[in-house]
Amino acid sequence: MGLRGEAVYEYTWLGLMAIVLLAFFAALSYYSFLRGIDPVSHAEPLVEAVAEELRPGVVEVEPGVYEVTIEARQFAFIPSRIELRDPEVVRFKVYSADVIHGFQIVGTNVNAMVMPGYVASFTWEPPEELEGRLLIICNEYCGVGHHLMMGELVIVRGGESG
Ligand code: CUA
Repeated sequence: MGLRGEAVYEYTWLGLMAIVLLAFFAALSYYSFLRGIDPVSHAEPLVEAVAEELRPGVVEVEPGVYEVTIEARQFAFIPSRIELRDPEVVRFKVYSADVIHGFQIVGTNVNAMVMPGYVASFTWEPPEELEGRLLIICNEYCGVGHHLMMGELVIVRGGESG
């Protein structure tokens, strides 16, 4: 017994749907596992005890290891300019003073959503060949000045300290 015309039509579309789903899944897997791009970074609840310890700024805890704390607010990152000398490991803590912001370092896999009440905590190992000025942007619409919300990350390699 062959399938009736309508059934063939039905199965054809079911098959196409399955292919589309697999294509989406493959694209997601590619970006997640091979490119290391995640939609949302690790977020920890911003409790009072944590809030008191958060000081926007850059601290080199040991050679090449940095702790970078950034406050995102309408419409700026504080600090707006970060300079890292020969960074190997960078631990970011990004929090919001008001609404949802984004924290993306253009051209890298750093891309976090910064939600009020949470600290976006993540560790980044910059590729060794990465140096110079990198643009930091907010990629979550946060108000009328959203498009003006940006910062700068400068990576200096092998220069003398000072
Ligand atoms: Cu902050 Cu858009």
